[in-house]
Amino acid sequence: MIIWVLANDPSLMIQPNPAISTPQTYNNPDNSVNLGNPPDRLALPVSIGILASGSGSNLEAIANTLNNATVAGLNPDTAKLSVVVYNNPNAYVQQRAQKLSIPAVLCNHREYDSREQLDAAIIEVFQQYQVDLVVMAGWMRIVTDKLINAYPRRILNIHPSLLPSFPGAKAIVQALAYGVKITGCTVHIAIAEVDAGPILQQAAVPVLPNDTLETLHQRIQVQEHIIYPQAIADYIKLLSS
Ligand code: GAR
Repeated sequence: MIIWVLANDPSLMIQPNPAISTPQTYNNPDNSVNLGNPPDRLALPVSIGILASGSGSNLEAIANTLNNATVAGLNPDTAKLSVVVYNNPNAYVQQRAQKLSIPAVLCNHREYDSREQLDAAIIEVFQQYQVDLVVMAGWMRIVTDKLINAYPRRILNIHPSLLPSFPGAKAIVQALAYGVKITGCTVHIAIAEVDAGPILQQAAVPVLPNDTLETLHQRIQVQEHIIYPQAIADYIKLLSS
């Protein structure tokens, strides 16, 4: 309803309005997320394993929020960033991890014969670091049942669209091409289907008339950095209570 009103207000389409740069957040941490059988209670601090392919700005936002305890429920008593697994040798996330003193392990997908073999290697690393919860922060590989089944309902993902619109690797390009007036980002529990699964949080971002891939992505990322730490905090609370 809120989105409909924003999308149909012509004055808001011409110039940015502070009211619509505030994220419309649909916080859904507990009762309406179908978690299947009650999950085993996680002990605190929850050990988080990050999967990342790119620049790692989401990693940094999560780490800063956690270290500075700026979101209720996410702090060194409740969570620890144990390891970052990255798949691209040149990914800037490796340098961010180093700066944040988080171990980073390269699992280069080109060195494995199948997606399952890559996932098996990732699981091995996560077991070594006793990971309880997997956070995909810009992970651009398709995950298989092997990883999903090793961490059932324990894998979160962020995607730069309002799912179920525009799943896949070209979400922002497709949103621009389609001409949507509102897009955004989504945090969800990962299942064995690309960019699908129970939604935990979303933030709406208006598409402005002169937006390019870069400008729109930048504004979406501002919201990603807000909703991902919040969603992780809420999910940890749910899984540990
Ligand atoms: C983020 O915008 C995230 O939503 C997107 O990759 C970017 C990673 O940025 N993920 C996907 O497209 C997953 N389908 P970062 O490396 O700066 O965190």
